[in-house]
Amino acid sequence: MIRASGMVTPAQGFLIWVGSKRSALPRIVPFLPPELPAGQITRYAEPFLGAGWMFFYLIFWYEFEAVFLSDLNPDLILTYITIRDAVDELIERVRGIERELFSCSDRAGRKKLFIKTRGEYNWARRGFDYSRFGASWVERAAQFVFLNRRSYRGKYQVNKQGNFCSCFLDRGRQGKAPLVKPPNLYAVSDALAGVELRSGDFTLCRDFVNDHTFVYLDPPYLGFKKHKCGVLYAYRLFDESEQLRVARYFRLLDGLGARLMLSNADTFPVGPEGNFFDVIYSDFRIERVMIRQSFNASVGEDYPPEPELLIMNYGL
Ligand SMILES: C[S@@+](CC[C@H](N)C(=O)[O-])C[C@H]1O[C@@H](n2cnc3c(N)ncnc32)[C@H](O)[C@@H]1O
Repeated sequence: MIRASGMVTPAQGFLIWVGSKRSALPRIVPFLPPELPAGQITRYAEPFLGAGWMFFYLIFWYEFEAVFLSDLNPDLILTYITIRDAVDELIERVRGIERELFSCSDRAGRKKLFIKTRGEYNWARRGFDYSRFGASWVERAAQFVFLNRRSYRGKYQVNKQGNFCSCFLDRGRQGKAPLVKPPNLYAVSDALAGVELRSGDFTLCRDFVNDHTFVYLDPPYLGFKKHKCGVLYAYRLFDESEQLRVARYFRLLDGLGARLMLSNADTFPVGPEGNFFDVIYSDFRIERVMIRQSFNASVGEDYPPEPELLIMNYGL
């Protein structure tokens, strides 16, 4: 049985991730399937994991026999696996980077450390063995955490060569915002015990899903464009054809009898009538909730609430 046992407070996402459901969760939770509190759901899958806020919520409140988490980003998944299997070593290494960062006398020094680490991180990607856990995973996961916690708005941008290319952002007074909170990383490690973590396309969870499974799908938003440096998450843009692929997969999982919830921004009208999602999910339940998303605001601005679509195959 998988449950973050003995935890008084839930584990929380430790990454700054564009599209994270951190602040949106209270609006989404009322729409979770009623079979969850009834104990009829025993399996959970989340194929667009990102910072994993839904997973951390569910694992605190419910018990599952099996959990399957995945994301296209291999370094994100490597970091989760490292936290699950080697949390002490990771904390020690992140603390080392933190000491180096905090010893820089000014912003220019901190930016130089960010750029140097980014270069090493991209260089090490060539020929990196993602198939077998080893000491190099701890170093890479620590770099991933540092680069994420000091990237401009936590954007994971990738260029044509597949290299991480996000810009530096100083955080905290004199750049001294901590990179991680160790008690939370221990809670994350507990929450991940026994969980299957895989890197790859969202279609990976097909064999895991059955009629006792709840699947939460949170694909990238349609409105993201190519920027000078690269594209958010992965170089291939998540365009209309990708959204259609998700809709086909949603139908396939529906046919397996799973309970499904999908969220997506309703802020980028597409299709001739601007009702792309209403059309492609016309035979499912569609609700709209207002949430705040950081990518729509300038730094320091209060984010205006935007409509988010929740698409479900239950409660019809
Ligand atoms: C909106 S974010 C998910 C945010 C997450 N729910 C949270 O609370 O942080 C979308 C995620 O989808 C991942 N992604 C992009 N394309 C994908 C694909 N084809 N298959 C699986 N994951 C993909 C990205 O790496 C990103 O982490």
